[in-house]
Amino acid sequence: MNIENNLSKGFLDIDINPELDLFGEIEKLKKEKNAIILAHYYQEPDIQDVADFIGDSLGLAQEAKKTNAEIIVFAGVHFMAETAKILNPTKKVLLPDLNAGCSLADSAPADLFKIFKQKNAEHLVISYINCSAEIKALSDIICTSSNAEKIIESLPKEQPIIFAPDKNLGAYLNKKTGRKMLLWNGACMVHEIFSLEKIIKLKIRHPKAKLIAHPECEESVLNISDYIGSTTQLLKYSQTNSASEFIVATETGILHEMQKSNPLKTFIPAPPNNNCACNDCPHMKLNTLEKLYLCMKYELPEIKMDEKLRLAAKKPIDKMLEISRAAGLIL
Ligand code: 13P
Ligand code: SF4
Repeated sequence: MNIENNLSKGFLDIDINPELDLFGEIEKLKKEKNAIILAHYYQEPDIQDVADFIGDSLGLAQEAKKTNAEIIVFAGVHFMAETAKILNPTKKVLLPDLNAGCSLADSAPADLFKIFKQKNAEHLVISYINCSAEIKALSDIICTSSNAEKIIESLPKEQPIIFAPDKNLGAYLNKKTGRKMLLWNGACMVHEIFSLEKIIKLKIRHPKAKLIAHPECEESVLNISDYIGSTTQLLKYSQTNSASEFIVATETGILHEMQKSNPLKTFIPAPPNNNCACNDCPHMKLNTLEKLYLCMKYELPEIKMDEKLRLAAKKPIDKMLEISRAAGLIL
């Protein structure tokens, strides 16, 4: 079989013997190939369990930068794997399904953003890491949800700033820092779909539960939340707070690690505006254990990048890591 040709769907579509112990096979492949699996908290539980490192976007970028492995298997979405490649040009970076995109990253096409930037030329550009390499290359500093406040505060108060692509995170940061950043009109489909009405009803039924939310959520949800933070920050809060019930307003994948590290606590996914009881990211959930196994076995699909673009996109990521280090957020 020509493996390269099999990739037309963006992932390897090869039948696997259903009796194969995929967990065992993946562990073997990791050792044989000196490969590391980095997974985001929104991945399906099986993938999180087989990963070497699970984290938020900042943790994953940092881990990608420091690994000695020859192959980085990125169980997450395309912009995350791209970030790993930007930081590791000589390593092979694999993504189990190349179609694993991001509605937020897609909401900022580079050609339109370039015009917006030109019209506001006196502004410095801070972009959330959930964006394409092309947008990163047009940015001055990258941030994640766990370091955005510190990054903004590292700049002089009078410095005009464009914040892209997430308008909800941008509005939240404007409120927190007292800045008036110019916001790009982008959003994440997963965090915009929560139903305020259903969340309020849940809070009435669970009066002692803490509502914890990701800052990509809309302002109306953030306004009634007890705690707001990145996925890692939400996880830490659930571990250290004495409450025994939590309503979680972010993608449902995070509940796996929350429940694992707090077996006696109850985690209730915040309901979306449709008939579902939980909220999955359709992009994140394109990766499966089967695709992960196949991509490690055949070392495909691989993330490739033009060197000029990589170098331009690396500069604002390095700046982010430098400010995060100076602020004591990372080692
Ligand atoms: P963090 O894990 O950095 O909080 O990001 C959440 C997210 O939406 C990733 O796609
Ligand atoms: Fe993108 Fe939202 Fe999915 Fe994260 S949860 S990958 S921001 S669509």
